Amino acid sequence: MDDALRSAPLFRELDDEAAAALRDSMDEVRVTRGQVLFREGDAGDRVYVVIEGKVKLGRTAPDGRENLLAVLGPGQMFGELSLFDPGPRSATATAVTDSMLLGLGHEDLLPLLTGRPEVARGLLLQIAQRLRRSNEAMADLVFADVPGRVAKALLDLSQRFGAASRDGIRVSHDLTQEELAQLVGASRETVNKALADFVHRGWIRLEQRSVVLLDLDRLRRRAR
Ligand code: CMP
Repeated sequence: MDDALRSAPLFRELDDEAAAALRDSMDEVRVTRGQVLFREGDAGDRVYVVIEGKVKLGRTAPDGRENLLAVLGPGQMFGELSLFDPGPRSATATAVTDSMLLGLGHEDLLPLLTGRPEVARGLLLQIAQRLRRSNEAMADLVFADVPGRVAKALLDLSQRFGAASRDGIRVSHDLTQEELAQLVGASRETVNKALADFVHRGWIRLEQRSVVLLDLDRLRRRAR
């Protein structure tokens, strides 16, 4: 079975047989770059696990501005809030790159939660981690400046999409500068200025839809 799937919160605690059975009950969904999987406010009836590619979760303000809550990669799951707290989708899910996902109907997930406490624990762990991240992001919006938040976003993206390269860690985020700004929660101009400053200091190198982190220590200190 695919490594991304085996590491997903739904699957991590299952034995091979149970994992294979669950995999068989899920359907494959393929989306192309920019395609919307569901919108904030829609009725929700499925959870998704990313197998290949990247998906962004975003919210739109009444004036049309957008904010990104997260960019998810292989092994990560979304779409469970509308199950645990019945109500509309809390965010819009859009493919950042061509992606393959597996979907599972909420009605098929519920018996797993009651019959297999280890699955429930895996999901609780994910929700708890997300709450920690959200608390931190909220504190950063209040206490940290934009360059600090940019440094943190780059380090965070590197954990999911980073790979060692000759002179640093190449983070293939596939985000436009606008999307990066939406993730940081600042204007594109301010975020670009921070990135240009990091380039000037030799901490990063910008490439098309990716960034190479050259000086992790400095970036970490800036992110604190
Ligand atoms: P749901 O509300 O069904 O649809 C949108 C999904 O986005 C939601 O379930 C969660 O799975 C996911 N989501 C919402 N908020 C966050 C967040 N702060 N970080 C990561 N994922 C989130």
